Amino acid sequence: MKKSAPRRALIAGNWKMHATRAEAVALIDSIKEAAGARDREVVIAPPYTALETAARAIEGTAIGLAGQNLHWEPKGAFTGEISGEMLKDAGCTYVIVGHSERRQYFGETNETVRQKIEAALRVALKPIMCIGETLREREGGNTLPVIERQVRDGLAGFGRDVVRGLTIAYEPVWAIGTGKTATQEQAQEVHAAIRTLLKELAGDTGSEAVRVLYGGSVKADNIDTLMAQPDIDGALVGGASLDAAAFSRIIGFR
Ligand code: 13P
Repeated sequence: MKKSAPRRALIAGNWKMHATRAEAVALIDSIKEAAGARDREVVIAPPYTALETAARAIEGTAIGLAGQNLHWEPKGAFTGEISGEMLKDAGCTYVIVGHSERRQYFGETNETVRQKIEAALRVALKPIMCIGETLREREGGNTLPVIERQVRDGLAGFGRDVVRGLTIAYEPVWAIGTGKTATQEQAQEVHAAIRTLLKELAGDTGSEAVRVLYGGSVKADNIDTLMAQPDIDGALVGGASLDAAAFSRIIGFR
């Protein structure tokens, strides 16, 4: 089935806790050539300390900037936290929300994800909401119910007009950093289920506008088959986004 909807592919690199400012500049320099094609958008999410430097390094390129997380309050006594406004100020247009590492190690829940999406939207940052099941949930046959809960609770209270403008990243936890990518069938099955759910939350047309990215061991040698799936609209890339050659090839998916 061909992609019928007007969705521009999005390839996002989540650098996680990697890269000094000098490393960020070098990496950007070696991927910027690959990032010019009109039919695809490229975004990188460096650590906070490299955002401003990265913002300068991407000037004049087609690369966009994302934060990896934000706090739900606009300001206050929250030591170690960063607000949406601060991310905007540093040059971000996107922000990753509810990454599984945040859920796993830092206690984030569907409710904090919802609050963070709200906070991002307040300052016109585009949230990329991450969802995904653990290995245990998959093996227990609970993948689709878990995904449905994460989407419904994470997006609770948002109107159709809001939901249609969002980006969702499906990242099965068992595929992250393990080298064990979901097969294209496994990924497409979940992406299709998300799309069906979105029909309810954003309407028929709205659901077709939402980009649903796949993440979890995306590499140069599996991006093409993943992107060939009708409901996979891009990728959220971890490890391979730190390797200029690999990430350039991923950006250049065919
Ligand atoms: P890997 O690509 O390293 O598996 O990480 C995926 C991820 O968590 C992106 O957010």
